[in-house]
Amino acid sequence: MTAPTLDVYLSDEDLTAALRSDATRGLTADPKWLPPKWFYDARGSELFERITELPEYYPTRTERALLERVVGDIARTAQAEVLVELGAGSAAKTRLLLSALTAEGPLKTYVPQDVSSAALRAAAEQVAAEFPALAVHGVVSDFTDTLHNLPGGGRRMIAFLGGTIGNLVPDERADFLAGIRDVLEPGERLLLGAGLVIEPEVLVPAYDDAAGVTAEFNRNVLHVLNQRLRADFEPEKFAHVALWDAEREWIEMRLAATEDMTVTVADLDLTVHFARGEQLRTEISAKFRVDGLDGELAAAGFRTERVWTDPDDRFALVLAARV
Ligand SMILES: C[S@@+](CC[C@H](N)C(=O)[O-])C[C@H]1O[C@@H](n2cnc3c(N)ncnc32)[C@H](O)[C@@H]1O
Repeated sequence: MTAPTLDVYLSDEDLTAALRSDATRGLTADPKWLPPKWFYDARGSELFERITELPEYYPTRTERALLERVVGDIARTAQAEVLVELGAGSAAKTRLLLSALTAEGPLKTYVPQDVSSAALRAAAEQVAAEFPALAVHGVVSDFTDTLHNLPGGGRRMIAFLGGTIGNLVPDERADFLAGIRDVLEPGERLLLGAGLVIEPEVLVPAYDDAAGVTAEFNRNVLHVLNQRLRADFEPEKFAHVALWDAEREWIEMRLAATEDMTVTVADLDLTVHFARGEQLRTEISAKFRVDGLDGELAAAGFRTERVWTDPDDRFALVLAARV
């Protein structure tokens, strides 16, 4: 096995600077909000892995079963020599893709990318041990702004799994997809895993589980603010909220202050007031319709080649070629 290499485009100082900027904007806005990438320090990534195993959290299981069924088709069509995976996390499901692409022949390199360096290092090392013939080249970066740093070296497929595309609002999605298009050559592919619009009775519990793991994951952003910016949030005084917005077809995760409080963010010289019941938005998770995905991909310069869905139409995998 060759040890994985790691390119770090987001140092600890860069992360702190980015959080300073996001917290300054988001905590002084009305309503207050923060981008979801701040859930994912080492503890947040571990909590996310626990979420994927919860009985209520159907997306991971559903996407895995779908991948198991169609991964051979994907590998045959894509003939990828380099698999880049954005927001790879633990890369648990990616093993299926790596096996199929290796069996198909041409795969030489796997490039997992993530903002969470702890999760990325662990995933890169495990994949390198399991697939000794592959070159594993990890990239620590923010997929919303540094795609041009991704290594090439052969026909690429970029995978973006787990429904993470739904964490971007429509304008961000358009920029993100156009950014992917810009780094690909004509004929190279994007494999997108996206959650579909389903009944709220199934959807909402996936983001509000009985064991409270998602609530802890949600509150982790407050721990991150405390650690990185010397804030004095009391996370246990914020209640987890998951709401289905039927008009915009997305889940919103929020944190609701359970009492009036004043929080100090020492490193920003910022004092933030929360009225009892006031909510801080921490994540959206948009759900899609197949036609809508196809339209967004076409607008960004992709041609949808194949769409696979699970038997309950809860999740879609879309293979699209850069035009
Ligand atoms: C919903 S999890 C999905 C993980 C994995 N792909 C899966 O399918 O289970 C989102 C992943 O994207 C990463 N992430 C979130 N925002 C990011 C950003 N702006 N740039 C890079 N990675 C990001 C997180 O650290 C996390 O690993």
